[in-house]
Amino acid sequence: MSDLFDLHKKYVSLKVDERYKYAWPYTETIYPSYFDKVRATADKILEIGVYMGGSVRAVRDYFPNATVIGADLDPQIKDEERLKIVKCDQRSTVELEALGEAYGPFDFIIEDGCHKMSGQVPSLNVMVRYLKPGGVYFIEDVIPKFEDYKIIEYVTRKYVNRNPEYRVEFHPALIAVVRV
Ligand SMILES: C[S@@+](CC[C@H](N)C(=O)[O-])C[C@H]1O[C@@H](n2cnc3c(N)ncnc32)[C@H](O)[C@@H]1O
Repeated sequence: MSDLFDLHKKYVSLKVDERYKYAWPYTETIYPSYFDKVRATADKILEIGVYMGGSVRAVRDYFPNATVIGADLDPQIKDEERLKIVKCDQRSTVELEALGEAYGPFDFIIEDGCHKMSGQVPSLNVMVRYLKPGGVYFIEDVIPKFEDYKIIEYVTRKYVNRNPEYRVEFHPALIAVVRV
């Protein structure tokens, strides 16, 4: 078991909630397979969708030298050590660009916000520009239960074999867009 999973349990993140078992592999194996190579050197990580702060706190503790930016339409928590909370509507390209300019570039971006195309699409298209080379943009909760499962089709059409700057990796219920 990864210590990332244990940290998410400690901070009561929704990614390890009993109701969302499809998401458990994110922190058990999938995220560690990307994170561990740069665990000591990553310095900037963004998560869109903070809720009660479980995930952003877990990620902050996992990366000893990183600051985590948590962006949310309606933030429920305040800044802490190595954790900056920012109000941002992920449907707004203007607000997303301001976020990227103020805090980017990022080693990783985790999108766990509205789970609707109206937010998923602008967030992806704006924020991939604020990834470091080798950085990864993750889209979570890509499951048929959510209205916007069609993000799979969108990413396939727009990013797979379309732009040599990006490589797409599909995981169960999770899409990773890697900036090559
Ligand atoms: C699933 S919760 C995040 C859970 C958290 N990442 C975790 O793992 O514990 C989704 C969050 O997205 C936020 N959200 C919903 N619509 C949004 C939008 N348009 N822009 C930014 N955040 C939004 C909600 O306020 C909520 O806090």
